Amino acid sequence: MKTETTIQGLSASLSPARAAKKLIGFVPTMGNLHEGHLNLVREARKLCDVVVVSIFVNPIQFGPNEDFDNYPRTLDQDSKLLAEVGCDIVFAPSVEQMYGKKPRLTNISVGEITNDLCGLQRPGHFDGVAVVVTKLFNIVQPNYAFFGQKDYQQLAVIRQFVQDLNIPLEVIGVPIARAADGLALSSRNGYLSEEQRQTAPVIFQTLKQAEQQLQQKTSLDEVLVNIKAALTQAGLVVDYVEARTPELQKTSEFNQDLVLFVAAKLGKTRLIDNLQVKFTA
Ligand code: PAJ
Repeated sequence: MKTETTIQGLSASLSPARAAKKLIGFVPTMGNLHEGHLNLVREARKLCDVVVVSIFVNPIQFGPNEDFDNYPRTLDQDSKLLAEVGCDIVFAPSVEQMYGKKPRLTNISVGEITNDLCGLQRPGHFDGVAVVVTKLFNIVQPNYAFFGQKDYQQLAVIRQFVQDLNIPLEVIGVPIARAADGLALSSRNGYLSEEQRQTAPVIFQTLKQAEQQLQQKTSLDEVLVNIKAALTQAGLVVDYVEARTPELQKTSEFNQDLVLFVAAKLGKTRLIDNLQVKFTA
């Protein structure tokens, strides 16, 4: 496995694969890798000849009071894990390598779907994601790019601008990887104290209960109120509990496929999760 830290170095490493028309798979990450990230790499390995993983903590997607400075940076450990799952090239650029010295003037805003859910709490976040992912797509020029359904809204935003801007690649969504107790794996879980870590699975448990209630035809409003109450009772501070259609449209109907979304704080740590609920007649 090679590690490249410059755009030029990465291009040179990829040029034989490009010349041979090999399928290039790309997994963008911010590092501090866990099984959720590694599953994306495994999916890429199945479908592609060459697998590139980027590790870049992207400053422009963090708000002023968010955890950019403290975000865990664990490149050595990440590299070991990536080698084990068959990654070919790690791309780990500096902020200067990605953004250069001149100020950036171009932005990418994806409209309505970014003014909802996490976009309301984190203004500018999805613009920052759209810009960095577009830059990475242009640098790597992959055939396939892999993203987790853990960040369902992010995946939708990426699919949208890839379509709108005719970016020539296919986006693949990969299911959420969870701990045995149901907690969605996240680099931010490392911020939790032991006690908070014991509490955190309540998010998934509550979502699963909500799924059952929906399938027993409890009204959507009532189900959302129940989720909020259960999370608050467990000591979480709810940012939002919402239901959307799989295309992220607002709805109050339960007789259709839905996605339930939760963002909540446990102490200082903001956790997100979602559950896709299939409509059963
Ligand atoms: P990061 O949080 O490191 O996540 C990288 C990828 O791993 C994303 O596609 C995310 O959805 C996926 N992922 C994280 N936890 C997961 C889990 N438990 N199950 C399945 N997939 C999971 O998301 C980002 O970085 C950044 O916003 C990025 C896209 C790299 C742009 O900076």
